[in-house]
Amino acid sequence: MTKQMHLIGFYMHSPINHSIMSWTDPEDDRVDGLATFEHWKRLARTLERGCFDGAFFADTPGGFDRYRDSLDDYVRYGVTWPCYDPMAPVSVMLAETEHLGLAVTASTSGSHPYTTVRRISTLDYMSGGRMGWNIVSGHLRGEHRALGIPQLEHDARYDHADEYMEVCYRLWNGVDQAAVLADRDGGIYADPAHVDVVDFDGEHFRCHAVPPTLPSRQGRPVLFQAGTSGRGQQFAMKHADVVFSIQPREEGMVKFVKSFNEAAAAAGRRDAPGVTFGVQCVLGGTEAEARARQVEIAERVPLDAALCRMSGTLGIDFSTLDMDTPLAEQTTDASRGMLMALASMAGDREATIRDAARIFGASTGMAQIVGTPEQVAERLETIWRASGCHGFNVTPTTNLRSVEDFVDQVVPILQRRGVFRTEYDGHTFKDTLLN
Ligand SMILES: Cc1cc2nc3c(=O)[nH]c(=O)nc-3n(C[C@H](O)[C@H](O)[C@H](O)COP(=O)(O)O)c2cc1C
Repeated sequence: MTKQMHLIGFYMHSPINHSIMSWTDPEDDRVDGLATFEHWKRLARTLERGCFDGAFFADTPGGFDRYRDSLDDYVRYGVTWPCYDPMAPVSVMLAETEHLGLAVTASTSGSHPYTTVRRISTLDYMSGGRMGWNIVSGHLRGEHRALGIPQLEHDARYDHADEYMEVCYRLWNGVDQAAVLADRDGGIYADPAHVDVVDFDGEHFRCHAVPPTLPSRQGRPVLFQAGTSGRGQQFAMKHADVVFSIQPREEGMVKFVKSFNEAAAAAGRRDAPGVTFGVQCVLGGTEAEARARQVEIAERVPLDAALCRMSGTLGIDFSTLDMDTPLAEQTTDASRGMLMALASMAGDREATIRDAARIFGASTGMAQIVGTPEQVAERLETIWRASGCHGFNVTPTTNLRSVEDFVDQVVPILQRRGVFRTEYDGHTFKDTLLN
């Protein structure tokens, strides 16, 4: 089979995904949908109809509290508030589908590896191996304040996360195939000789337990990682099957994959993790209509709302800074990968804080691919070929209307071009995503 593009839907369990104020759009049904299961069932059915690899839930489990040192704008504009638990829609979506993979973001701060393995691997087992985990190390101050725990500094968070993963691997690898007997006549469920007692005593974690779940059909969940500083990439080389990145410009995507593959080679990783880029496709019947839509999406975002989300993500209170100064002058202990990506968004000239806020408000920094379905399909294929990326995390402009439009209008063109599957040929998320 020739190499195929991978497509993953990209969502959050909140009134918006990645476009602030999308809930105000007359086409958008997320506000009412949040109080139902049907919203997520319909999303799952739509994605599976479009042969998507999966759906990926970002999660910011605490508030954006840096801007003016307050949570007011986070609440006022619904900037991912309320922030519901993504495990609930993920369960519903798995139950509604047979092939679709589901990835959930879970932070290594404020939870124990045993709890995380138990939650995610339970669904991985029940779904026949269709779960993924986006491992994040807790860059948000709000997450730590919510739990009343101290936030470690940037590199120490990754050291802590490395140890977290050590415990996870032991729990995932602790049951061998011969363990379960389920011998009804003999009354023996499993042979303890084939189940490890994990006895871990590390700097951050202790765990004395047998694995809480059996391995799934794919063994353990697919592992994603999204931090892209130097230390973040080291972590990715060690743990990730797929790396998720945001680059506001197409040139940035080409550069990112090249430098990432070089880093993988230098780290001795023979097969570098695939890279998927977040994109937002803005469709119109004509190019002019799509461009007008792009302007509408950006202009409905109050500057305060955009700065609230950007301040939270970058750990900088932008209310104290001149909007027309270069973003690159700032440093951060929060998301360095995101700061670097946004600082390069204006190409030849230096991006200002105002430039960055505009794209952060519209698409959380993701490149917008704007045009007719034909133009969007063509652009995706061009980026995919030029960068050598694995595929795309596609965030909608409206829920669920723009997901349906993408599946009905763009996917068939990609399929005709021979770059995207017309049916699933595996069972697990690994089968679908990692080939
Ligand atoms: C593209 C991208 C997506 C991310 N998604 C999330 C997320 O959904 N939830 C979260 O808590 N952190 C998220 N993060 C934060 C990272 O996992 C990481 O903690 C942070 O970027 C700091 O790492 P870095 O400096 O290596 O980029 C994301 C980061 C990037 C770059």
